[in-house]
Amino acid sequence: MDKKRKISIAAPYLDKKEIAAMRKPLLSGWLTQGSCVEDFEKRFAKIHGVRYAVATTSCTTALHLALLALGIGPGDEVIVPSFTWIATANAVEYAGARPVFCDIEPDTYNLSVKGLKALINPRTRAVIPVHLFGLCAEMDKIKPICQQHKLRIIEDAACAVGASVNGKKAGSFGDIGCFSFHPRKIVTTGEGGMCTTDNKTVARYLTALRNHGASIPEEKRSLSDKPYRLPDFNILGYNYRMTDLQGAIGLVQLSRLKSFILQRQRWAQWYRDELKGLKWLKMPFVPAGYRHSYQSFVCYVDENKAPCSRNELMEKLYSRGVNTRSGTIAVHMQNYYVRKYNIDPDSLPVAKDCHLHSLAIPLHNRMSPQDYKYVARILKGI
Ligand SMILES: Cc1ncc(COP(=O)(O)O)c(C=O)c1O
Repeated sequence: MDKKRKISIAAPYLDKKEIAAMRKPLLSGWLTQGSCVEDFEKRFAKIHGVRYAVATTSCTTALHLALLALGIGPGDEVIVPSFTWIATANAVEYAGARPVFCDIEPDTYNLSVKGLKALINPRTRAVIPVHLFGLCAEMDKIKPICQQHKLRIIEDAACAVGASVNGKKAGSFGDIGCFSFHPRKIVTTGEGGMCTTDNKTVARYLTALRNHGASIPEEKRSLSDKPYRLPDFNILGYNYRMTDLQGAIGLVQLSRLKSFILQRQRWAQWYRDELKGLKWLKMPFVPAGYRHSYQSFVCYVDENKAPCSRNELMEKLYSRGVNTRSGTIAVHMQNYYVRKYNIDPDSLPVAKDCHLHSLAIPLHNRMSPQDYKYVARILKGI
């Protein structure tokens, strides 16, 4: 291990502004969901060009609520890409529905449109396109197919805060968009998530679902003229509320979003220029009109040309202080899903291939120019 350097795969950028913002909820004593979360939601909705945003404890819980809000449950099938984080499929399981795994496009790592068409059947109720690593799925092709078959769309935009296609933002294409504020994401609140929608009824339902199914949330009730009257509980809800401390941090993080993404885009371009001599390392592809927000910079290792395997490469880089990861996982190859649905790993060859050969290299807002140069130098030296 190089003693001098240790470059993490991701690290959140926060400073005294976030600390200062937390003073308000800390000193007021209102720590759970309150006015900071509400302000965060409003700002988030504005940035993403939607009418409503409903904060949750994570993107996983946002996906769970999104499925429930759209009435998806036992007997229903939901098409999800296999190459994603496990939470996309797990949320479908929580709702009692069946995740049906679809292959991905090798260039973009996103849902294969051809694969999607082939999987639709009378039990299919919804599709969850994932905007993986900060690049939107091909919504211009996916949406008409869903409309034709009357399928709901839940965007898994966990990695795609601020990403867009021809100016239209992630989270504004489908019925509901779901975002993550985990520390590996572009903006963070520690843990946290958000649902976005243009539908008022859906937004209201999500709002009740995340708060035990209460007909009126505490922060509204406490300000009403009858704060002593408890709400009605007409539906089965959950406690998926974000805290006001997180809301306060989130607001500051959003004010940094534009510069975070610009910085990531600049360094992504720098990597492309600097590493173009490595013919065995395929750089991430960005179709025209797409704004990639580079939650991760995920390459593909062509083992036919590479000096060693992807896994050996990860080991060598790690020994020199450079942390890498597989882009993500092929969920259909994970034991829970193999056991439950008896899935052949080779049935989705591109997802399997990317599971084995994708490589995320460090790119985040805490890296210095020297860090980037170091990563490139080590990679070129292998
Ligand atoms: C594509 C995708 N979906 C869902 C999630 C789950 O997000 P969270 O950790 O906020 O629950 C993640 C997190 O890594 C993700 O990358």
